[in-house]
Amino acid sequence: MRVPFHRVSIAPGVGEAVERVLESGWLTTGEECLKLEQEIAGQLGVNYGQVVTVSSCTAALELACRVLCDREDIVAVPAMTFGATALAPLHAGQRVVVVDVLNESLNLNPERIPTYADCVIPVHYGGAPADLSEICNGERIVIEDAAHAWGAEFNGEKIGRCLYGSKQTDAACFSLYATKPVQCGEGGFVVFRELEKADEARALRQHGMSCVASEMGLGGRYEIISPGIKANLSDLLAAIARAGLSEAENDRRIRKALAVDYDRSLHKWVRVPIRDERSSNHLYPIRVAPMHRDEVARELDEAGIQTSLHYRSLAYHRGIAWHPHVEIHQTPVANAAGEEIISLPLFPSMTPEEHEYVVESVQNAVGNLLAVAK
Ligand SMILES: Cc1ncc(COP(=O)(O)O)c(C=O)c1O
Repeated sequence: MRVPFHRVSIAPGVGEAVERVLESGWLTTGEECLKLEQEIAGQLGVNYGQVVTVSSCTAALELACRVLCDREDIVAVPAMTFGATALAPLHAGQRVVVVDVLNESLNLNPERIPTYADCVIPVHYGGAPADLSEICNGERIVIEDAAHAWGAEFNGEKIGRCLYGSKQTDAACFSLYATKPVQCGEGGFVVFRELEKADEARALRQHGMSCVASEMGLGGRYEIISPGIKANLSDLLAAIARAGLSEAENDRRIRKALAVDYDRSLHKWVRVPIRDERSSNHLYPIRVAPMHRDEVARELDEAGIQTSLHYRSLAYHRGIAWHPHVEIHQTPVANAAGEEIISLPLFPSMTPEEHEYVVESVQNAVGNLLAVAK
């Protein structure tokens, strides 16, 4: 049997949605993006003007940094993340400090945030919320990297609301990339707490133009009012994301059931993630002793199971660690965890047979190693 790391779930109605856009005569940013923004806002319970669809979560992070931070501001990011979390503020002109994470959740350790940081980008690793109660101190800017976290909650509120009881963040950035909880291939969106900031980002996502193609009258007159980037989402992709969004809650329940099953079957064999009821369960990263990790991954690969690695510490990526505007702090927890992790397949269209096969294969791989060690 072959089990991919991820198999796309084709949401009901996606074919009709694509046809609808093709027949509309308009492919790029327009009515579908607006509807997607409205539906996201509806699910979060925020004003739709706060939501800005973009071409990726990376672009969402960059726009949030441009709108909320000054150039040269210091932005703290966790070492256990995808490079985009650090690259986005660099592209926006800020300086980056990479700090360590907590050993249990692999989320940013609030005690490691330097007092001189102007902004923090916590990542909700694997979909489990970072500890915003410690991170949001009311003084620094907080931009959530919620690439994994659609459907997750903090303080009883959906991640993305930016208001979590007595705590608030400035923006939350989501990914619509091919493997994420809501997906359209490539895409993303950012929710700002303040409408004016969203308006600024909406202009910046399309070169900083005063009005865009779908709104143009007067013979196409517009002005570039601020030097923006090209990061708008196409209507074709927005229509696919809208179909997925309507299935997201159901998908989240399936992911959780699969994760709980993995916990039950694997906790005696490997270190399983800490169960967090508030998580979106985007990833299922098991941890094995560093000396066995590559061997277990190789055996799973030979059994036809595709795995992934989330993540090698940012301290080990030259393009980030050697950048003149990056400071790497001591990150022993992230460095060690990056040598132990194997992310197992976990996706809503996974069949019981596929799930069982992954469980058996992990047990076999680890069992073989233990037998050799004896
Ligand atoms: C934690 C994290 N942040 C940001 C991103 C960037 O997302 P995108 O590919 O939509 O730009 C990813 C993508 O995998 C991610 O995992």
